This record gives sequence, C-alpha cells and structure tokens, in this order.
Amino acid sequence: MSRQCVVRKRPWKELISKLSVLNSKVLTMKPCLMALTLVAISSMSQAATAMSSKETAMSLKNEAVSLTKSLKAYFSTQFLVGSAINAQQAKRTEQDTDALIIAQFNTITPENELKWERIHPKPDTYDFSLSDEYVDYGLANNMFTVGHTLVWHSQTPDWVFEDAQGKPLTRAALLARMEEHIQTVVSRYKGKIKGWDVVNEALNEDGSLRDSKWRQIIGDDFIEKAFTYAHAADPDAELYYNDYNLYKPEKSAGAARLIKSLQNKGVPVHGVGLQGHYSLTHPALNELDDALTLFASLGIESMITELDISVLPFPSEAEQGADISQDLALQKALNPYPNGLPKAQQDALSARYKEVFSVFSKHHASISRVTFWGVNDANSWRNDWPMRGRTDYPLLFDRKNQPKPAYHTLMTTPVR
Ligand code: G3I
Repeated sequence: MSRQCVVRKRPWKELISKLSVLNSKVLTMKPCLMALTLVAISSMSQAATAMSSKETAMSLKNEAVSLTKSLKAYFSTQFLVGSAINAQQAKRTEQDTDALIIAQFNTITPENELKWERIHPKPDTYDFSLSDEYVDYGLANNMFTVGHTLVWHSQTPDWVFEDAQGKPLTRAALLARMEEHIQTVVSRYKGKIKGWDVVNEALNEDGSLRDSKWRQIIGDDFIEKAFTYAHAADPDAELYYNDYNLYKPEKSAGAARLIKSLQNKGVPVHGVGLQGHYSLTHPALNELDDALTLFASLGIESMITELDISVLPFPSEAEQGADISQDLALQKALNPYPNGLPKAQQDALSARYKEVFSVFSKHHASISRVTFWGVNDANSWRNDWPMRGRTDYPLLFDRKNQPKPAYHTLMTTPVR
C-alpha cells in the first residue's frame, strides 16, 4: 500500500488501547494513568527485580506521581508534547531549562539550527556543529526528533538561487542544488530525525502558491520534488508540509489541494503541520476545528508544530500569523505589560489555552503531536515580532521556568 494516504499508527496509542481490554482493574484507571503505569513499569523493571513487592509498588506509585506532573505524561493517550529548542538549550547551557525540557517534553524541533542559512551557508560549506548537538540531545533523551526545515523561502541564502556570476539559476541547476542539500542533510540524520518539515510556508493567505524564488525558478512542482528527494534520502522518515494560519478556510483549502495533488501523484506526504502562532482572539475555534477535520479527511496526520498564544495587541489583523519580514517600530501602546502580566490577562491566557486544547483533544485521533515554539516566555520569538523589544507571555512556562496558571489549567482539565 502506498504510504502517503495512511495515518500512521502510533505505538503509544495502540498500547493504551490493547491495555484497556487486558485487565479489569486497569480498566477502571484513567487512560493517562494506565500509560504512566506502563512507562513506570518498563523503566523500572530492572531495579524492581531486586525489590520486595511492597517496595516495588511504592516506587511505581512515586514514579507515576512524578510523571503526572509532566505535559508528556498527561497527554500521553492523545499526542506527543514537545518544544522547539534553541542552540543554547541543545548545548545544555542552563541546567534548570534542561531539566524542564527533559521532564516535560517527549519531542523536540530545532528552532533555527537546521535552517539552510545555518547549516549550508556557502555552496561548498556545510556546518553541522549545532544541528549535531540538537540531534544528539534528542537521541540522548529518547525524544521524537523533528527536522525543520528543508525548503523555505526565508532564511535561505541568496547564493542558493544564483550562479557564480550572480545570475538566476536554471530550473535544472536549482533542482540539482535542492536535491544535493536534501540528500546531504536528511541522510546525515537518517534514522535519527524521525520527521521532517520538508516544505515550509509555500502558501499565500488565499491558499494559492507563494511566488517564492523556488517557485519562480523551478515551477509549482518544486514541492513534489522536495518531498521526493527527502523520501529517497530516508524512506522511513515522516514527511510534512508545514505552514502558519492553516485555520483560515482559504488557506487550509489551499493546503488540502496541495496535499491531494501530491497524493494523486504518489508523492510521499505523511502529515501537515499547523504552526499554531495564535492570539487571544485568533483562531476562531470553529475554524480550527474545521481545518483539523479537513486534514483528517485526507488520511494524513495533523501536527500542531509551533504553538504559542500571544497576549499582546497586534497592530492590525494583517500582522497575525508568522510573516517574519515585518518589523514595525516599537510603540508603547503595543507593549502594555513590560513588568509582568496582570491577573486578568493571565486568566484570559489560561482560558484560551484550555479552549484551544479542547479542540486538539477532540481531534486527538488524527493529531500526532503538539509542539510549543519555545520552552519559556523568555525564549519566545514573540518578544520580537512583529516588532522587536516587546514583552510577551505566550508559553506555559514563565521567564524563570515556572509553570504558569495556563499550565495548571491544562493539567487539571480532564483529557477525553
Ligand atoms: O543568532 C543570531 C545572533 O548571533 C545575532 O546577534 C542576532 C542579531 O539579530 O541574531 C541571531 O539570530 C536570530 C535568530 O532568530 C536567533 O535568535 C536571527 O536574527 C532571527 O532572524 C532568528 O529568528 C528566527 C526566525 O524563525 C527566522 O529564522 C526565530 O528565532 C524563530 O523562532 C523563527 O521561527 C519561525 C519558524 O522557523 C517558521 N515558522 C514561523 C516561526 C516564527 O517566525
């Protein structure tokens, strides 16, 4: 069977469903506790052989209790929960941030370390120093390690599209360059990076194809070529299309058209990443719900790949999303909480996270992971977009790595 039309079965979801028919006592447990118990049992099995049964039971209980304090454990029956990590975090420069990442998340995405400009700054120069650290971090912590991103209009050096004389490349030459880059990068991490954002942000807001240099020089089929090259380099890797504002009906329809056209041509595409750069007002929940229903109908996985919820006002409707070319002058009115988030806004953020996660939970059968775009508020790109120097509070952990009220709200809202 061709793989592109199949929602891949997730081992932890299968395990939970098998367990539910095995044991009547287990059946009375909440599904997430069953998962915790299983994780605890497997991780402690060696040590348990040397313990009395009472000691073992106590250890398992303690282990389960500590695991319930993590996002990855709490949502274990629904989806993986992850974070983007930056270079410092991959290098483990801050002990408390490192401990938080390991405790809370079971999947990671590199915020910047695998972008073209970082790893392939010149035609014959690759620099894998940071990306190797990132991948080693994921391996060492047994995390589902994502690659971000292979083909993007942004953060790609100009030379990529030019010949030695600075003239635009031919289609054939740019395809060769794209293939060489994808082959080099994907095969380096074959079997280690489990899923790739192969093409990032190729759509306009109306769902049409963005007129990037990739498209101008190669044509519309640059997307299928990128997926085909990635599949050739690592046939076992999951391959995703990733974009922002995919809750907008016209844009999600455009993404669905794109994915269907890839499927019709037999091009391997396994999932769609909805970035999830949200605010207190966007998206409307029904739009998010509809988009997730639409993508599930295509037989692919959905992922929330870059979740954060800004509490700050936006200069205009147009500035929501993630078009990073914007950098407006800082205005005081647009940076209202430089010294801390007032309780009313903290509560609004908690309520917003709760309602957004209720939609994710409704669609958990087709959502494989939810990844936050940053570990804590201090790290977030939101502080610098659409203007630099703001103080935003978009994540679940504050600037001192402490869980915020929104975290506690999510962790006390029953999962379906
Ligand atoms: O590391 C350099 C530093 O050495 C230098 O002094 C400083 C000066 O500006 O720049 C630093 O690099 C910045 C980098 O973030 C690390 O902070 C780059 O200028 C800046 O452009 C870069 O922004 C990143 C942006 O993508 C562009 O690559 C953000 O961190 C990152 O969060 C953002 O992530 C994107 C996703 O990849 C795709 N979807 C949207 C999302 C948010 O824009």
